[in-house]
Amino acid sequence: MSDQRPAPPPQSGIVLRHAASHDDLSACFPVISQLRPNLKDAAEWGDRVSAMAGAGYRVLAAWDGGRVVAVAGYRVMENLIHGRFLYVDDLVTADGSRGHGLGASLLKELSMIGVNQNCRRLVLDTAAANTNARRFYAREGLLGVIVGFMKPLVEGA
Ligand SMILES: CC(C)(COP(=O)(O)OP(=O)(O)OC[C@H]1O[C@@H](n2cnc3c(N)ncnc32)[C@H](O)[C@@H]1OP(=O)(O)O)[C@@H](O)C(=O)NCCC(=O)NCCS
Repeated sequence: MSDQRPAPPPQSGIVLRHAASHDDLSACFPVISQLRPNLKDAAEWGDRVSAMAGAGYRVLAAWDGGRVVAVAGYRVMENLIHGRFLYVDDLVTADGSRGHGLGASLLKELSMIGVNQNCRRLVLDTAAANTNARRFYAREGLLGVIVGFMKPLVEGA
């Protein structure tokens, strides 16, 4: 198994809490838009979250008072490959807050949520070119055992 260092404690005063309201989601927008720049504004982000909520999508955020400093989007799913699993759609720490343990804390919390919801695995995709994120995930004990392929089915996808 890879090195499973315990997550560093989040900075004091940081609280992990789901975004539960429209205002919470708006507070997440400046951070999620750093990972998903194709989202044009907070309204579109809120609409997309509402649409995906039907498929179980939820947003866990790290809060420094009323300010969001890191965001994770995830859902619990089931398929024949993994059984029941927690899939991490999105994970991003605000530029300027990176390298302080927030990403590790969110991953640790997501793992606990997965265990509590009877998931066998935590699964995520990352771009092959995202070497920083790949190093981070390996450091956090995720196994790089899956190779993903994609094929655009419409122009520009
Ligand atoms: C990857 C990411 C979520 C990690 O969050 P974080 O809060 O910085 O994570 P931690 O502080 O717990 O761990 C820091 C580790 O993240 C990695 N990292 C990746 N990008 C980094 C950055 N810009 N600054 C600092 N660390 C970064 C490093 O490996 C670092 O490990 P090190 O401390 O041994 O150098 C965050 O850097 C990020 O948002 N990156 C841009 C968005 C992204 O690529 N998300 C993943 C999509 S799959």
